Order: sequence, then structure tokens, then C-alpha cells
Amino acid sequence: RAGAAKAVAAALPVLASCSGPQSTFTAAGSESESILHLFYVMLAGASVIWLFVIGLSLYAVRSTPARDSARIGVRLIVWGGCVFPTVVLALLLYWGLEKMPGYRRPADGPRIAVSGERFWWRVAYDVEGEPGIVKSLPTGGVESANEIWIPVGRRTEILLGSPDVIHSFWVPALAGKTDMIPGRVNRIVLEPLVAGVYNGVCAEFCGDAHAQMGLRVVAVPEAEYAAHVAAMAEPAAVVSGRGVDAFLGNGCAACHTVRGTPAAGSVGPDLTHVASRLTLGAGLLENNRENLTAFIRATDHVKPGVQMPAFGMLPDDDIAVIANWLGELR
Ligand code: CUA
Repeated sequence: RAGAAKAVAAALPVLASCSGPQSTFTAAGSESESILHLFYVMLAGASVIWLFVIGLSLYAVRSTPARDSARIGVRLIVWGGCVFPTVVLALLLYWGLEKMPGYRRPADGPRIAVSGERFWWRVAYDVEGEPGIVKSLPTGGVESANEIWIPVGRRTEILLGSPDVIHSFWVPALAGKTDMIPGRVNRIVLEPLVAGVYNGVCAEFCGDAHAQMGLRVVAVPEAEYAAHVAAMAEPAAVVSGRGVDAFLGNGCAACHTVRGTPAAGSVGPDLTHVASRLTLGAGLLENNRENLTAFIRATDHVKPGVQMPAFGMLPDDDIAVIANWLGELR
């Protein structure tokens, strides 16, 4: 019994690690909750069947053949091998099909376009228009990156696309995953039931920095969501000064947009409100001045495989000025 207690004690940390902001076991969305429910029911059923089969196997090994064993065997095959699985699988199929319309319920919340880039997420709130015949994401809207705010209790439609390679959008605590495929637009609906910050990942190998392609989904009450999008729509907090000059003078604007300044590049993430985000480098680093500086100076070391070149050749002073300015863009 002491051995069993030890085994349980050893398993506890493993079980505890099943929960967290990036776990299907911490279901916080309507879809993930129903999937988790389905999983537990199937796990329980499978455990019963497993114990039954193991029990029968032990019985078969240990008992001597009875006179009527052939008759018992045929019964077992008919009932245990044909009737039982047919009934159980039919019930599970029915249950699964019955759940599906729930996943397809139309969205009643905002519509947000998310594009999988190498290796980050382009996010646009309040996009206009339907995906066109060329199957590209709708354009316009308020652009941000690597962080998606959505209202709690509403069904937010996320339109998913990619300009070049296949990525997959997965926020385990909220819903299943959906591929982002160049040339077409996929949709997923996120309906968070609990406010919180949920981690998402890219779930399709897309290149060197695939493993560092994370995102955050921030689920907040509806009023807070509206206020956030309104704040994101504003131009940058500081649009002139040494920081802006250094940013423009060193070519950062070739790839980045900072609304309110001449910087209007569209290759990399929009940095208009970069300081308000939770992370840097797509879910990789805590967002602070020190990490901003490290990211600019040695991008390739901080995030190997990243497309942005390192700017270590710049004088430390220039990097500090740029990082300080970006740190003010709340
Ligand atoms: Cu993007 Cu893997």
C-alpha cells in the first residue's frame, strides 16, 4: 500500500502540470469544455473496456478449457466483439454528431483577422468585407500583433490566413486548432467563458522558429474589449523625438509601422502600441526595456530563425534610444 501511495505522490506533479494557461485540461471556452467532457467520457468507457479485456485475458490464461468453451467463445465473439462495439460506437458517433452544430453556431461577437507570419501573428480588429474570390483575408481594421483581445461570453469569429507557409492556430484552453493555409481563409470561433489570459501556439511546423511562435489571447468583459480596440486604433503615444529619428534613420521603418510617424512598413509586426503588449517576439519574452534592447541587438540569438536581422552593429546608444521610445508606446 505504501508503494501505491508513493506512485500516486509521484504522479501528482505530472497531473498538476496538465493544467495551466496552455492546456486543454483547463478548459475555459465553450468548445474546449465540450471536447474535454467528451474526452473524459471516452476515457472512462475505454478504461472499463480495458479492464474487462485484461480480466478476460487473465481468466483465459489461468483456467483450464471447459467442455463448453467453444460455445462460450462464440457468444463472446458475437456479443463482445460485434454487438457491444457496434452499439457503443454508434452511441458515441451520435453524441459526437450532435455536438457538432454547437461548434458551428454563428458568431455573435467581433470579427478579427489573424495572419500566420514567419514567425509571428498579424492581428487586425474590425476588418471589413468578406474574404474575396482570391481567398485573401479581409483588409483594413486596426492592426496589432501576437496578442488577441476578445470579449468574454461572446462568439468571436477569427478569420485565419497566411501569405506563404502553413501555420496552425491553437489556443488549447479555448478551442481546437485550425490550419492557416496560404490562398484560403479558414474560420474558427472562440467563445471564452472565463476572463483570463490564454496561451496559444503555432501547431504546424512552419520553419526554424516554429517553436517560438506563440501568442496570447486576452479574454475580457465586453466594455473592456471595446476600450482596448479603441485604444489600439489611436496613433502612437510619442510621434517625434530622438527615438523616432533613430528608428527611421536606421531603417526600422522598412518593415515596421508606427502609426502617427512616417514608419509604414508592413513586413514585420505593427509596433504602434508595442509597449502595451504582454510579450515580445511572439509570446517569447516578457515585455520590458531590457528584453526590447536584447531583441534589437541580437535578434537571431534571442529567437533563432527569426526573419528580422540583428542590429548589433548599431551604437549602444542608438539601440537604447530606440528601445526607450518603443517602451513608451503604450
Ligand atoms: Cu507557424 Cu509553426
